[in-house]
Amino acid sequence: MAMSAAIAPAPVSARLDVPAAIARPAYVDDGPPWDLDDALVKDPDTIARMRVAGRIAADAVLEVGRHVAPGITTDELDRIGHDFLIAHDAYPSTLGYKGFPKSLCTSVNEVICHGIPDARPLIEGDVVKVDITAFKNGVHGDTCATFFAGHPNEDVRLLGERTREAMLRGIRAVQPGRPLNVIGRVIESYARRFGYGVVRDYTGHGVGPSFHTRPTVLHYDEPRATQLLEPGMTFTIEPMLTLGGYDWVMWDDGWTVLTADGSWAAQWEHTVVVTEDGAEILTSPSD
Ligand code: MF3
Ligand code: CO
Ligand code: CO
Repeated sequence: MAMSAAIAPAPVSARLDVPAAIARPAYVDDGPPWDLDDALVKDPDTIARMRVAGRIAADAVLEVGRHVAPGITTDELDRIGHDFLIAHDAYPSTLGYKGFPKSLCTSVNEVICHGIPDARPLIEGDVVKVDITAFKNGVHGDTCATFFAGHPNEDVRLLGERTREAMLRGIRAVQPGRPLNVIGRVIESYARRFGYGVVRDYTGHGVGPSFHTRPTVLHYDEPRATQLLEPGMTFTIEPMLTLGGYDWVMWDDGWTVLTADGSWAAQWEHTVVVTEDGAEILTSPSD
């Protein structure tokens, strides 16, 4: 099914600088705690700031996506995203988070998530998930999209499209008063129609002043996840679907997560806030 040979580790370039004038999350200089126990319900000012950080992250993903093509390395994609965030006075949240060495995640083919940009050039037909988080005015906005280098095969193209649809269905299921597990239930039932694997051990998460915090947002049905959604809660919905199973392996770099069966994966992610009558996407691009 895969057109490229299996992905292998490639050299990672030196860490890029961020101008001192750009405010950074505390963890970059201080290390742990990486995340704090933020209030579940955010005030309107925090949400307004998240809309700004979210828009920058979304615009950065689109800018990087415009450059996805056979021949470009994921390291070059990282540089493009890094420069874009800095030009918009945002800090690339992943850079220095728990030791992650780059400004975005590029997860190619059978890499499910947390791929580190490196010297491997993309090959015709590759799928690359570009996941960017921007930190600005004290809050994070986290978003991911799936792109193709050249023309993917039909199975892979459909996987990318349906993973986006799965995410959107999860977002549309959000209503105050409903339990959190409504999100995973709709995502999993949609993915199952096509026989896709639904990754279980990597999840959506609360986001705001902290990068990863309560609640954990599962992309599969978990009857015990009965916490009720409330207006002002902010979290990500970021399903990872595969053409095979959901078991995974990790490289020795401590980051790169791949499907155990080598099947290719897609991912889409938005940061959302629960509203009075649904959800608002905070990671919408400018236009
Ligand atoms: N943006 C990823 C997410 O959706 C997290 C990346 S953390 C990193 O949660 F350290 F791997 F970059
Ligand atoms: Co996320
Ligand atoms: Co992300």
